[in-house]
Amino acid sequence: MTYLAVVTGAAGAIGQEIAAQLAPTHDAVVLVDVDGEKLKTTHAKLESRVEGGHNRIIPEVCNITDPDAVKDLARRVSERGTVRTLVNNAGATHAASLHEMTVESWKAEVDLNLNAAFLCFQAFSESLKACPSSPSVVNVASANGLGMFGNPAYSAAKAGLIHLTRSIAVEYGRFGIRCNAVAPGTVKTPAWEQKAKANPNVLDEVKQWYPMQRIVEVGHVASTVAFLASAQAGSITGVCLPVDCGLLAGAPPVARAFAVSEYY
Ligand SMILES: NC(=O)c1ccc[n+]([C@@H]2O[C@H](COP(=O)([O-])OP(=O)(O)OC[C@H]3O[C@@H](n4cnc5c(N)ncnc54)[C@H](O)[C@@H]3O)[C@@H](O)[C@H]2O)c1
Repeated sequence: MTYLAVVTGAAGAIGQEIAAQLAPTHDAVVLVDVDGEKLKTTHAKLESRVEGGHNRIIPEVCNITDPDAVKDLARRVSERGTVRTLVNNAGATHAASLHEMTVESWKAEVDLNLNAAFLCFQAFSESLKACPSSPSVVNVASANGLGMFGNPAYSAAKAGLIHLTRSIAVEYGRFGIRCNAVAPGTVKTPAWEQKAKANPNVLDEVKQWYPMQRIVEVGHVASTVAFLASAQAGSITGVCLPVDCGLLAGAPPVARAFAVSEYY
């Protein structure tokens, strides 16, 4: 049996690192992305980075918000092997506030950040069920799915994704399928370019709200995904693990004001 990992949004910064970290525990990693040019570059990079990379890194161009395209993708992937790990990582946000939101932007963000994960799970669920070796799904949610940090449609979709995580865990546990989520805080990736245009200091300014006074490293999101997908996490299902340098625990400036203490 050939064991596969499927990573959506794999041409992006976080997806690429997740693919690299899943490679040692899978026979091959399928990189799924809508951006064919970026995917070519990522494919070449990972082929040289991953041991025995040639033939073990499979690029697949697919718009995962399109139900038919996702079905086709699953059919092509099933010819390559059995899916042991599905990582629903593709995601993005552009609409910062409700005031700026249009019906179209609301629907587009929910489509990409929530509905696409359902489509991918549904398309790959038979393959996951057929996998005898620790099949699992890891959903890349966000701290925005657990608290409010702006970007309302994205946040609502990520909150939905966390609940989809529980639904899959509860219904598919009897097939041995685990499903977990990670909720990253701010990670410096191209996804921040739009906000950096409006405020070039945004990534420095957000650090004050983090107990660790720094933002999250791409590698730490990927290593948490790899852990949740591994046999070491064999009894963990239905959870959402923040990878957020403490953001969701509380903010030092808020604690300083409430406790009237300079020690925060
Ligand atoms: N960067 C952060 O600060 C941060 C924080 C919390 C959560 N996240 C989440 O992490 C995940 C990865 O984000 P990133 O920062 O690496 O973003 P990124 O923009 O670098 O990568 C996202 C990738 O998804 C792909 N994609 C977009 N729409 C697609 C579609 N319809 N079909 C297939 N692929 C599509 C893009 O082409 C891109 O390569 C996202 O789900 C994001 O919401 C990111």
